[in-house]
Amino acid sequence: MSKIAILGFGTVGSGTVEVFCKNKSNYCKNTGKNLDIKYILDIRDFPESPYADKFIKDFNVIVNDPEVTVVAELIGGKTFAYDCVKRALEAGKSVVTSNKELVATKGAELLRIAAEHNVNFFFEASVGGGIPIIRPLQQCLMSDEITSIAGILNGTTNYILTKMLKEGAEFAEVLAKAQELGYAESDPEADVGGGDACRKICILASLIFGEHIYPEDVYTEGITSITKEDAEYAANWGGVIKLIASAQKFGDCLEIVVCPCFVPVESQLSGVDDVFNAILVKGTATGEVVFYGRGAGKYPTASAVVADILNAVRNESKNIIWKEKGKESCVVDYEKQKHRFYLRANADKTKISGLFGDVSFLARQNAPESETAFITPEISREELNEKCKNMNVLGKIQIMYAFDEERT
Ligand code: HSE
Repeated sequence: MSKIAILGFGTVGSGTVEVFCKNKSNYCKNTGKNLDIKYILDIRDFPESPYADKFIKDFNVIVNDPEVTVVAELIGGKTFAYDCVKRALEAGKSVVTSNKELVATKGAELLRIAAEHNVNFFFEASVGGGIPIIRPLQQCLMSDEITSIAGILNGTTNYILTKMLKEGAEFAEVLAKAQELGYAESDPEADVGGGDACRKICILASLIFGEHIYPEDVYTEGITSITKEDAEYAANWGGVIKLIASAQKFGDCLEIVVCPCFVPVESQLSGVDDVFNAILVKGTATGEVVFYGRGAGKYPTASAVVADILNAVRNESKNIIWKEKGKESCVVDYEKQKHRFYLRANADKTKISGLFGDVSFLARQNAPESETAFITPEISREELNEKCKNMNVLGKIQIMYAFDEERT
């Protein structure tokens, strides 16, 4: 007998209950166990729900019920959710979650508690929605040394950029649609400001680095300053604009960053549109592997949660282990790292060449005479900002580094 408790009946919580109940008989057959959802915890009432008899409001009921072996935390945030997850693990119950904020900020501690109590703490749904990425990295690619990961990790911003830049839609209108479709966070600032992608790349980086990488150590920039004009220059350069989250190991150090990038059309990430996510993983033996699928939404995310529940019930998969952060941070200061950048400014070409040296100028139709757009040689963001101090900058976007580029 394995009873399951669902915490939170929002988009992902209700999707998880639906997916589970629809396929329950198969799950029971495949696991050989009598599985069922016993409780759904939510502060709201759902008298019309077909699962109305399962709703409770007191978490103590769950934590004190020995029949409950797996708790699915789908509340979000890191206050009440953290308290529930910690107490459930300490009570000897396995926990699965889609909560990237919780994993990115408390992952090392919760993994330690899970190991101490010989239970599972799984979070496949926290990165990439329905795309399997955590378990493949932890299991299928465990033989390899993963040196870099770069991806489109936020469905909402990819949906917004696609609709704005390809179809000419307005930002506010597309954001509202993303919320309606259940893609956006409850506070969509986490999506458009890059914070959600940052949490996800921290989780992946912690996994490949074996040490907890915290969001506050990551340079993070969102998509709010991206314009149609920038997209036209990106097309002239031979690419598109995407919000890229990347982590790259070199020696004992890690460069990790979230920012909009010019992505060349040859890159496998350039054609990833709408709510889709894609994650490029590079290993020394495997070479490049790409994971692609729906990165947000009720059912894709719910499918990953239910898979984790079944893995926890079977208790066959081992927990991931990553250490707490060491005394010395392994994350390099991104703003000191050299990259190439696209710049759009009100400045003449002679001044630009004098300041930046060998640049490549870009063009777009109907650009005002005062506007100059170009690609810089390799330069750190710090130096770039210094050079731009007295310039009227209209757009500044990093060029995605070549994935096969060697870093020293
Ligand atoms: N708001 C997130 C996104 C949900 O848009 O990717 C999935 O994590």
